[in-house]
Amino acid sequence: MRTRPADNGFGVVVEGFDPASDAEVAELKRTVYRERIAVLKGQDLDPAAFLRLGRRLGRPESYYEPIYHHPDVPEVFVSSNVPQAGEQIGVPRTGKFWHSDYQFMPDPFDLTLILPQVVPSRNRGTFFIDMSRAYELLDGRLRAAVEGTFARHSVRRYFKIRPGDVYRPISEVLAEIDERTPAVRFPTVVTHPHSGRKLLYISEGFTQAIEDAEGEERPGLLAELLAASGQLDPTCTHPAIHLQTFDVGDLLVWDNRSLVHRALHTATDEPAVSYRVTVYDPPAASDTDGSMELAGAGVA
Ligand SMILES: [Fe+2]
Repeated sequence: MRTRPADNGFGVVVEGFDPASDAEVAELKRTVYRERIAVLKGQDLDPAAFLRLGRRLGRPESYYEPIYHHPDVPEVFVSSNVPQAGEQIGVPRTGKFWHSDYQFMPDPFDLTLILPQVVPSRNRGTFFIDMSRAYELLDGRLRAAVEGTFARHSVRRYFKIRPGDVYRPISEVLAEIDERTPAVRFPTVVTHPHSGRKLLYISEGFTQAIEDAEGEERPGLLAELLAASGQLDPTCTHPAIHLQTFDVGDLLVWDNRSLVHRALHTATDEPAVSYRVTVYDPPAASDTDGSMELAGAGVA
């Protein structure tokens, strides 16, 4: 396996990765936790093979909402605007907002893997912001302001209405969301369980508020932090934002805790399909004690 820095200065490109090699799997994971994102070239995998590769990196988790599942391999999450035999497969136009996958759950994923299947010719890619860099760049006042605070996250604002929800009152759908996925609370600044780096663990899509240990909200602080990190820039041209483009045959693997991401969807009606596998990769007890901090966070 050969690794080189990506041309856009963010992450690395990996050629010749062999998923059968334990040494290469370990090296890939170290690389991703250090560089945040790796693009594996020449990965022509069917859904079952994609899941097998995910299993090499950790414990895959099927998405909690079945409408996203691949019909044959439910652990594969499908983003697609291309019906097959007249039927919608997966969900179209997913993730067009800043987030980290499963940030609204008590146990967020460690790694996200994306395997593009159909790539539009224009307006394609995924935007990323490195939230450990965002923490480093906070000025002294904001860094002091986040000290000892907690962030509350919920899927409420971005839960996708399912076909079966048509004609249901919105209050009933919201009550169901709160029942199944109650808001979760993590420290605003968490220590990465693998790298030990501190990072600002918030997103425009899922974070509802910043509060102190007693649950008292800190009005305005969330917006200030989101603006400082680049997540409130509607043009997505903030210097902290990286656009990752890809082609069919590329497999993206990223550090889901360190990065927030946002899909760039084609403005035209061009077909776009991608497969996703998300995995848990808890650190060995000897790595750091950072996982305790995340795992110990309570449900609000
Ligand atoms: Fe996502």
